[in-house]
Amino acid sequence: MTNPPEESSVDVHVLSGATVVLGVTGGIAAYKSVELLRRLMDLGAYVIPVMTENATRFIGATTLTALASEPARLSLFDDHDPILHTRLGRSADLIVVAPATARLIGEYACGIATDLLSTTLVATEAPVVICPAMHSEMWAHPAIRENVATLERRGVTVVAPETGRLAGGDIGAGRLADIDVIVDRCAGALAPRRDLSGCHVVVSAGGTREAIDPVRFLSNRSSGKQGYAIAEAARSRGARVTLVTTTDRVAPAGVEVISVESAEELYGAVTGLAESAHVVIMAAAVADFRPVRVAEHKLKKSDGIPEISFVPTPDTLAELGRRHRPGQVIVGFAAETDDIIVHAKQKLREKGVDLLVVNDVTVEGTGFNADTNAVTILSREGKRTDVALAPKSTIAHAVLDAVVARIGVR
Ligand code: CTP
Repeated sequence: MTNPPEESSVDVHVLSGATVVLGVTGGIAAYKSVELLRRLMDLGAYVIPVMTENATRFIGATTLTALASEPARLSLFDDHDPILHTRLGRSADLIVVAPATARLIGEYACGIATDLLSTTLVATEAPVVICPAMHSEMWAHPAIRENVATLERRGVTVVAPETGRLAGGDIGAGRLADIDVIVDRCAGALAPRRDLSGCHVVVSAGGTREAIDPVRFLSNRSSGKQGYAIAEAARSRGARVTLVTTTDRVAPAGVEVISVESAEELYGAVTGLAESAHVVIMAAAVADFRPVRVAEHKLKKSDGIPEISFVPTPDTLAELGRRHRPGQVIVGFAAETDDIIVHAKQKLREKGVDLLVVNDVTVEGTGFNADTNAVTILSREGKRTDVALAPKSTIAHAVLDAVVARIGVR
């Protein structure tokens, strides 16, 4: 192990002295914005609350005014400043909206400015952090998914909601993220995280192809999207990234690409790189078996139904677990369809990895070829982190957060 990164998490003190517009919209989680405001003030930020009309149905403007640097603003028109939205938009170092309702997210994604908050959002060049909170059905709705993906593509930080108790007693994904997480992401948006700088991260992506004859192969449904999202996120956090991929998707900027096709080629490439890499993340869907022989010529229908015998392929992840060096972090993935956690725990143990990212591919909106995913991250010590349905880029950062927390542990 050489040069582990010095910094394992973002420094929240970058918020000291920053002008932060705190947007609050009309959801039950609005009461939590009071705690967020207090935390931002405690860190030395200059905070200006902006409430939507519906937010005032949940909490009083007086509460926010009493705690903030300036009175809470409610309207485009009631202020002595006739162009309040441009003043707020220009003076903000950061805008954070917590909670953000489906309406606010939809308006912002479409550039529709209906009130002071949505107008300020389209009048700013400052980094923006959006913290959705809503019922699970709403969070899973394709319209919301697309709006969130649009915002993320534009560089907005979306802090995915947690899974937990929701209004009305339901349990599911949609609860406002923990205030500590929001503060962390605000600091990260102000000063982009470089917590993987000095690290070499190897990511595998896509489904392997096992040749039958010169024109046919056996493969699986993996699109490679999750692996690519991890490569991109690791690069943005300062890592040197090598992507070992079976797909011809366009690689993220600044990422070194090694193209492979079969499980055996992937094994050779990844185990070679792992000799010096700090982190290896096996997001690829690797075939467990390959045909014993690749027919030299195309199999012809006229030759009758072919009988294909199989032999096992090398298990790259298990080999990485065996060769594990102190301080190195090895991450496996598991796509499961039943008894998810039981199978995952067994895989974690048997393959000797540090973290296993497991997803139930039968859940709508997750797994192969989807732009979103919902995963559980298990650690070898038995820690379990559930990441609710979110864009694959958000899942990528959650996986990297778990990696960063472990670098140098073993
Ligand atoms: N993996 C690997 N080499 C293989 C098979 C899998 O490196 N030959 C890796 C995958 O990249 C993934 C993890 O092992 O990170 C789990 O893959 P999965 O297919 O879920 O597990 P298997 O060990 O193949 O078990 P099973 O198919 O029986 O569930």
